[in-house]
Amino acid sequence: MIQTSAPAKLILCGEHAVVYNRPAIALPLANVRAYAEARPGAPGAGLRFVAPDLGVDWGLADDPQNPLNELAAAALAYLGIPVPDLSLTLRSDIPIAGGMGSGAAIGAALVRALAAQAGRELPPAEVSALVYASEERYHGTPSGIDNAVIAYAQAIWFQRRPPEPPLIAPVAIGASLALVVGDTGVRSATRLPVGAVRERWQADPDTYEDLFDAVGALVTRARDALASGDLAALGILLDENQRLLAQIGVSSPDLEQLIGAARAAGALGAKLSGAGWGGVMIALAPPGGQDLIADALRAAGAARVRVATVPAATKT
Ligand code: MEV
Repeated sequence: MIQTSAPAKLILCGEHAVVYNRPAIALPLANVRAYAEARPGAPGAGLRFVAPDLGVDWGLADDPQNPLNELAAAALAYLGIPVPDLSLTLRSDIPIAGGMGSGAAIGAALVRALAAQAGRELPPAEVSALVYASEERYHGTPSGIDNAVIAYAQAIWFQRRPPEPPLIAPVAIGASLALVVGDTGVRSATRLPVGAVRERWQADPDTYEDLFDAVGALVTRARDALASGDLAALGILLDENQRLLAQIGVSSPDLEQLIGAARAAGALGAKLSGAGWGGVMIALAPPGGQDLIADALRAAGAARVRVATVPAATKT
């Protein structure tokens, strides 16, 4: 049996502006993952998928429009192998439409399983490119940051540079981070807030370009604060990012409620993470402060709370 997986992600700062070519920083969450398990299928059965958590199973040939079918077909073509007789079981610990990259992580695990079936291990850039093409077909105008951080499985600095490929560089983390992740429980498909921001940007490009510039500038400062382990400075920048995200129009009363509760419980900074209108928020805890913040988020109505520890890392 072949088993592959890919992590969830969090955007530390810079979401939305990253679609408009400003930089952003994203982190993988190693212990929250999507998995694919491949077992030989009956001869002639073709490629079949099972998603036990959703109680569904289907075949590659059943629905060519299904995003996972399209991704699998694209991956098989890329690998240059015929459709195998294979049963692929897909599971995930990552909430769907919750801002943590569930679709990209399932896609990356699926691509890796098909590559392993072909006797290959694809480098992160190739996994990322296949998943990006799939996200582009179904999510409109993704920046590519989600598939990149998930495929590379390391903290990254990401900036689009069309028509060149995006800049993807590891970021240094001077002191480990304790991030408390509060889930509003509100599911929001990424393409909806991303589409709404595009409409507003088209209607008022000057205002939105200024907002995106301000986000880009704070992301650059956040990279320095991260590298030097200056948690207090990083927290202030996360708060500033949240103010700008609210002005961009992607926060929500549920997110604000959790963000306010985290700050009142001692968070150094807090913001929504991902596309917004629902999904998750993150709070940067001072050393030893994560439990208090986690309790405050539960009391404020979070549907789920996790503490993610991001280890210190030198730039590799
Ligand atoms: C979603 O995780 C991040 C957004 O910036 C969309 C994107 O970059 O594709 C909101």
